Amino acid sequence: MKNINIAVIPGDGIGPEVIGEGIKVLKAIEARDSNLSFSFTKFPWGCEYYLQEGKMMDADGIDQLAGFDAIYLGAVGYPGVPDHISLWNLLLRIRKSFDQYVNLRPISLLHPELTPLKGKSGDDIDFLVIRENSEGEYAGAGDRLFQGKPEEVALQTGVFSRKGTERIIRYAYEEARRSNRTLTSISKGNALQYSMVFWDEVFEEVGREYPDVETYSYLVDAASLYFVTDPERFEVVVTSNLFGDILTDLGAALTGGLGLAAGANINPEHKYPSMFEPIHGSAPDIAGKGLANPLASIWSASQMLDFFGEEEWGKTVLEIMREMLQEPQQLTPDLGGKATTQDVGDRFADMLGKR
Ligand code: NAD
Ligand code: IPM
Ligand code: MN
Repeated sequence: MKNINIAVIPGDGIGPEVIGEGIKVLKAIEARDSNLSFSFTKFPWGCEYYLQEGKMMDADGIDQLAGFDAIYLGAVGYPGVPDHISLWNLLLRIRKSFDQYVNLRPISLLHPELTPLKGKSGDDIDFLVIRENSEGEYAGAGDRLFQGKPEEVALQTGVFSRKGTERIIRYAYEEARRSNRTLTSISKGNALQYSMVFWDEVFEEVGREYPDVETYSYLVDAASLYFVTDPERFEVVVTSNLFGDILTDLGAALTGGLGLAAGANINPEHKYPSMFEPIHGSAPDIAGKGLANPLASIWSASQMLDFFGEEEWGKTVLEIMREMLQEPQQLTPDLGGKATTQDVGDRFADMLGKR
């Protein structure tokens, strides 16, 4: 019997709503598989916790999480607490503390009607973005000089270490080789003459060890255009932290919106817990109304299953998702339906039970 010990951080806004449905789906799997079980331990951390306790998580929060196999997180950030405080003290702190340097964000069209792109099908829009998740523009390096003075300057330094750049690029080459797909690097060496020229050099250097992998390299501005005009160019994509953040919301727009966009923050060596979360935020505009789409969270749960070697279940979850997407009426309003968050989770669990 395999047990996966999961720390659950529902977080803010729609976080608890969507994570509740993801747990429902995992429990339905557990009920069907006598060799697999999950333990769930909830942590009440987030913006409400901050307003009551003055901190986003317990002082020893990282130690509390360290013993778990995985973290399942909803969303962090809510009006009333400055975003840079909430995010840097919870979400980004976890990604950094547990060296979750690979962020896997699939951009796959599961139903042809979900894309705003005319004439594009699931064959055209089916790629994986591998986002560097530990440094770059998110290194936290910078300064505010001469605050409040006319000569004020704000600095935000992108940090690209050889170790950090090589390991994400190598991971991407391995993934392209494993899945027999092309690899595209997205960077910006024409303007960012230190960080991105270095990135491009490392992409080439590491590539010499992978002569069997067909590669492409685009500037991020042109790549944004190609995402929309010819998404079929992309199979596996590797890019920096900030570019990956932005490009994957764009990718979400091509495949059904943020309600369907999943992500996994992984430490491939299994040295620390990895974290699975939808890529959307706390969506204050729809929070507490049962309007949130839980499918992104459920898809992230399937990435968790893949990561722990339960690919058959991961595949089954995606098959059911494809089936559910055939009936728009039974989906949440973002996908044109009338169902609530809970309705979608209930139906998902029910369909799983019948497999
Ligand atoms: P957002 O992703 O919360 O929302 C953007 C838009 O997408 C909104 O219109 C929202 O209603 C919609 N949306 C998002 N998730 C949806 C879902 N599951 N179903 C249906 N519609 C959905 O982005 P934002 O409004 O820019 O940010 C809100 C807060 O969330 C901010 O504090 C931000 O910093 C934070 N945030 C957190 C994370 C995270 O924890 N991983 C990610 C992104 C943003
Ligand atoms: C994401 C989010 C985070 C990021 C924010 C909330 C810090 O936008 O996971 O995509 O920029 O990584
Ligand atoms: Mn984002």
